[in-house]
Amino acid sequence: MKNLTVLLCLLLAPALAARADTPPPHLRAQGTATQLIVDGHPFLIRGGEINNSSATNPAFLAPTWSRYEAMNLNTLLVPVYWDLIEPEEGRFDFATVDQVLAQAREHRMRLVLLWFGSWKNSMSCYAPAWVKKDVKRFPRAEDLRGDRQEILTPFSEENLKVDARAFAQLMQHLRQVDGTQHTVIMIQVENEIGMIPTARDHCAAANAAFARAVPTELMDYLAANLEHLAAPVKAVWQGAGAKRAGTWTEVFGASAAAEEIFMAWHFARFTDAVAVAGKQAYTLPMFVNAALIRPGHQPGQYPSAGPLPHLFDVWRAAAPSIDFLSPDIYMQGFMDWARRYRQAGNPLFIPEAMRSPEAAVNALYAYGAHDAMGFSPFGIDSVGQPAADTLKASFGLIAQLEPVILAYQGKGAMAGLLSEGPEQRQPQEVTFGSYVLNVTFERGTPPALADGFIVPTGGPTGPIPPSGGLVIAVGPDEFIFAGTSIIVTFATKEPGMTAGILSAEEGRYVDGTWQNVLWLGGDQTHQGRHIRLEPGRFSIQRVKLYRY
Ligand code: DGJ
Repeated sequence: MKNLTVLLCLLLAPALAARADTPPPHLRAQGTATQLIVDGHPFLIRGGEINNSSATNPAFLAPTWSRYEAMNLNTLLVPVYWDLIEPEEGRFDFATVDQVLAQAREHRMRLVLLWFGSWKNSMSCYAPAWVKKDVKRFPRAEDLRGDRQEILTPFSEENLKVDARAFAQLMQHLRQVDGTQHTVIMIQVENEIGMIPTARDHCAAANAAFARAVPTELMDYLAANLEHLAAPVKAVWQGAGAKRAGTWTEVFGASAAAEEIFMAWHFARFTDAVAVAGKQAYTLPMFVNAALIRPGHQPGQYPSAGPLPHLFDVWRAAAPSIDFLSPDIYMQGFMDWARRYRQAGNPLFIPEAMRSPEAAVNALYAYGAHDAMGFSPFGIDSVGQPAADTLKASFGLIAQLEPVILAYQGKGAMAGLLSEGPEQRQPQEVTFGSYVLNVTFERGTPPALADGFIVPTGGPTGPIPPSGGLVIAVGPDEFIFAGTSIIVTFATKEPGMTAGILSAEEGRYVDGTWQNVLWLGGDQTHQGRHIRLEPGRFSIQRVKLYRY
């Protein structure tokens, strides 16, 4: 009865500006960018992903929404658990999903739903009990010794059938309860797929597939994209003689790398079939996410064969219905991982990132440098201080700048400002037209000692506040900077000319319109030599340059 009430509320409530007249959320190209279109307009996700178990009980989740609103989130990433929605085969119960939808609407928040189906961080812990207990009907992956893993093998038609059926039911239900309201804007299919502790599955069906010929679809893709193939796959293929046909070992050689390619193909085919079944019921943008590799690890030592940068080609060839591949960035080298996920036109959406104060500047970098569709720290329901405040400040700037960012995406007019690593001493150089922007990061200076005017954030011995931002060239001589703890000097490539600051002002956007807070000069621009976004707070400056 309670479930019926929630369902009726969902169907009847006008809560989140119902837009029956617009198509469901979808992707659209703008220049080199891919934008997520929601209710007819491009949408920038300011997201957070909740902890894995937090949506199992809507009563647990209900009091947490005000925290997400306070951090300026507009989207929550929330799991849907296969074992909860299909407790008995063929009996579906969407009560928890419906209550999460109702809560999101009440708080005017969008949702990205994460399908915890066959795989969650390699394992199959979210498979329902009736699947787990029937290993004969639902076979498992096996290691080299033939030991069963708690990982459903992708080499089973039956495994695929039940996962795809459940996912299709979910999408059908979403179409019914959300097809006009568009609270759910994207879907992640499975979660951090990966084979471990061996590079490939060794169950009987997997061994049989490994002995068969490499599918012609993959061979054709490799041949057609030879020029653009990611180096590792190309190297493995060419190292084995670049054959156009043969078994997996004949085409890719006998190595863990070759086994990983084989496994990636089969994981991707399975996931694509799940996505196809879901899209047939209700078409929303769908993506997969990857657990990244720690340096020095070999296939089998990390969750292998997921949508990792060195396997992009295999995933692309095998899973055309997956719209894009996403990184979960918890490691050092944020800029490098972000760049690697932009290869071959892949749009950047970061569904998981460390919930540290650095998330605030990493987000600005992702939006500025890579036209990111969104950024979302993980474990947002348990984020502590100072990470919560810095994220709030950073997402606050993104919220103000959203129309400007969306207008300039894909046009080569934005850059992200971030230090490659703590050892970076050289300024980051950004070029727009003939102007060269030299950006340095104040990260090394304890805030309380840096300048008498700034807001201290921990004192000389406290944590160093994050440093970074983004810049948008809104005219040939005019730039918007947003961020914290950066200093920018200007030069011009025009021979015999020097770049100078014509004006600098701090301000804010209110409903897309610029409002001045202060004109900046004197000490605040080092007497016209630079602009500075102070440490300890996030701010926006509009700067006009000239040449003399
Ligand atoms: C990555 C996974 O995708 C998440 O679901 C969660 O398990 C985090 N790791 C935990 O850090």
